[in-house]
Parts: sequence; C-alpha cells; structure tokens
Amino acid sequence: MKSLISVRDLKREEVEEILRLARAYKEGRSKRIDASALFFFAEPSTRTRLSFEKSARSLGIQTYNVTHSESSSVKGESFYDTLKTLEALGYDYVVFRVPFVLFPYDELTRSLNLRLINAGDGTHQHPSQALIDLFTLMERFGEIKGLRVLYVGDIKHSRVFRSGAFLLRMFGARVGVCGPATLIPRNTEALGVEKVFRELDEALPWADVVVWLRLQKERQKENYVPSERSYFKQFGLTKERYEKVKLYMHPGPVNRNVDIDEELVYAEKSLIYEQVKNGIHVRKAIYEFLW
Ligand code: CP
Repeated sequence: MKSLISVRDLKREEVEEILRLARAYKEGRSKRIDASALFFFAEPSTRTRLSFEKSARSLGIQTYNVTHSESSSVKGESFYDTLKTLEALGYDYVVFRVPFVLFPYDELTRSLNLRLINAGDGTHQHPSQALIDLFTLMERFGEIKGLRVLYVGDIKHSRVFRSGAFLLRMFGARVGVCGPATLIPRNTEALGVEKVFRELDEALPWADVVVWLRLQKERQKENYVPSERSYFKQFGLTKERYEKVKLYMHPGPVNRNVDIDEELVYAEKSLIYEQVKNGIHVRKAIYEFLW
C-alpha cells in the first residue's frame, strides 16, 4: 500500500507520473475511485483540506471528517492508535495534518493497511503543496532546470520550503533563501540551498520567481523579528519591490501587509490564485497515483 508522507520518498519518475495525471485532470480527465477517505486535521487549514475533499468527491471517493478536538486524541490516544483504529474501520485513505514531525516515519506506521497522505506535519513536509508549486512552475516556465527560485521569510519553520526545495532540486532548479538571520536554518546546504541572501533587494534580481512564506507565529517560541512592520519593510513584497520581481507565489494563507502588500496578493505577477486552482488537479492525481 503506497502512502505520501515525504517528497523524499518519491522517485523522479513517480513525480512525473503525478504531474502527468494532474495535467490530464486539468484537461478534463474523468475517473471514478470506489473508496473512502478520512480527514484528520489537528491544525487549521482552508485550501489543503477543502481541495483534498473536493477532489476526492469529484472522483467518487466518500469523504469523512474528524477534527482533532472531537477525536480521542484529546483523551490521550496516540497518533499511531488513531491510525490503527481508522485501519480497522476500513478507510482507504487517511489525509492528515499534525503539529508534530513524522520523522523517522516508522515501520509500524508503514505496515498499516492505509494510504496515508501527509497534508502537513509540523515543520517537516507538505508534499501536496510542493507538487502543486512544481506543477504551477512547470506550466508557466516549461523547463525547471536552471530556474532560480527564491524562498523569502520564515524558512526555519516552513514545511513548504523543505518539501518544495527538494522537488525543485530534483528537477534541476537553483534554490535561494532570504529572511531574518533568526529564521534561516543552519543546514541550508543539506536542504538544497545554493544561495543565502541577507538583503532582499540583492536577492530579487537573482530570482526568476519568488516564493513568499508566512511568518509561522504558531511555531515560533520566541520573538524572531522586532515587529511585523519592520519585517514587512525588510522582507515583504512592497509596491517598490513589485517592480523588481518577475513572478511570485505564496502557499497561503497570506498575511497581508506582513508578507505581501494588500494590493499585490492577486496582482498581475502573482501566481497565488493559480496555485490554489491547481491544487484540485494535483490532489486528484495524488489519489489516483496511490490507488
Ligand atoms: N497552503 C496551505 O497549507 O494552506 P492551508 O493552511 O489553508 O491548508
């Protein structure tokens, strides 16, 4: 039984297969999967949960939800025992989001008779978002090899960055990061980063596309930036910087006037709306790939 926990478990030809399916769905592919999916979200989500749910339903997959606060997790049940219960109940897919890191992903979990789909685990992985971002860039640029992609902001806490950078490197992109020194992890080289920029205005001319990230305040145990206002001035997409960027993305949710100027979220150079729309096709592809 296949699961999607980390992009690091995917071979290039498997990623290509998911992207091929996503393109087919975007062009009108129709498919029925006679299955059931359970959504277990222990962290908030709008786009990931809703697009996994909508794409499941359009494939004919029956969907069920249990929120963390309604589940027996609050009575102390372990995540593994929750999964074991869902296996016993006969679900085919479990789409989950959890605040902790699923690494190492142990043999016990691997042996479950469930297709697990990681919709975000702590600061670790967000594979479907990484596939959406790669798909969106391939649509726009065709060739990823040599493309210079700059991630800006809270790199340290970003599962979008960790999974996205890995896939981009797999396809030959060049990855740079820029953000407050307090929010850049130490092991950038191991994460596939070629360039670490301290000044955003130096980094922008280097980049073909910029991925702005949200300050993950829910994961920050201390004050990493003096104020949101000063952070926006140093690292945000301001109207002045808009003139210098070619294209930009953001996984969402956007904090307006912290990550991106409120008037620029859906401006001409923004791919943010496109990323959300592509989420449906990529997530359908993931269900079919795992079936
Ligand atoms: N990109 C993303 O994960 O958004 P949600 O938190 O709304 O699912």
